[in-house]
Amino acid sequence: MSWVSIDKDLCTVCGTCVERCACFSEKDGEIIASADVNSCNVCGHCVSLCPTRAISHSQMNMENFIELDENIKIKTDDFIDLIRRRRSHRKWADKPVPREVAEKLVDVCRYAPTGSNVQNVEILLLQDPAKIKKLSDLTMESFEKAQEMLEGRAKALKAAGKELPASMQYSLDVLRLRSQRMASREPGRDTVFHKAPLVWIFHSPEATSAPKDNGVIASTTVALTAMTMGLESTYIGIFEMAASYRPIMEELNLPAGHKIISVLIMGYPSWTYHRTVDRKPIKVRFE
Ligand SMILES: Cc1cc2nc3c(=O)[nH]c(=O)nc-3n(C[C@H](O)[C@H](O)[C@H](O)COP(=O)(O)O)c2cc1C
Repeated sequence: MSWVSIDKDLCTVCGTCVERCACFSEKDGEIIASADVNSCNVCGHCVSLCPTRAISHSQMNMENFIELDENIKIKTDDFIDLIRRRRSHRKWADKPVPREVAEKLVDVCRYAPTGSNVQNVEILLLQDPAKIKKLSDLTMESFEKAQEMLEGRAKALKAAGKELPASMQYSLDVLRLRSQRMASREPGRDTVFHKAPLVWIFHSPEATSAPKDNGVIASTTVALTAMTMGLESTYIGIFEMAASYRPIMEELNLPAGHKIISVLIMGYPSWTYHRTVDRKPIKVRFE
């Protein structure tokens, strides 16, 4: 039984579905659909493209295929302005993000694309300051432990007249620099989540199509949409680096086989950036 059915009374045999997707073919002036788990990745393009609403898909909610208003035009310069306005924020107004605002942003994630349309990005939203602080402390603890371990290795290798491999030496240099910087910061400062009112942890099965890309596309979709609601955010890669530390994994309690694929902090900003910033030109080659 095909997942897709065609209403013969509505179908004009325009052939768009045939051109778009191998699940469709034309025979004796009729369109035939044979979509199933082996051939269809549930992208919905067939339903969305059909000019006469002749196609329905049993694996999707047809009510969510809403007619697109062709009069809505987003001006290119306005869109570029939004992108140029985006700044990483680390200082927040004392104002929580309302639940319904967070829910609207979670919903927009559904529309971010995923490799092979896997749609398996999940989100853990943290709002509890105590939990956020605990994860921040555990992140720093994980770096201290990693540094201790690498210092021990370096010492043992030196005693044996050997050198630390280049990749380990690089990690050790990064960890040493980080701990020096942390030592110079005032106590109580949250250098991981910057005391943000909301932390977004995007995660997905590790064994899936393009998990990291899916995560970053989802978080970027959320971050840009949030700006239209007065919210700002920052990607937090430092937490991702520490996320395999067992106490952090236990604290997060993600589903088995899941991996963190992007992290954002978010809130209403307490600083206003007054102007755009300079960035290096992109190196590009047109061929
Ligand atoms: C993948 C990624 C990871 C990042 N990780 C952190 C982080 O752990 N902590 C932090 O404060 N900022 C982090 N940032 C923010 C960058 O420092 C910031 O984007 C960069 O300095 C440019 O500033 P802008 O975002 O205002 O343009 C990260 C940004 C990206 C894209």
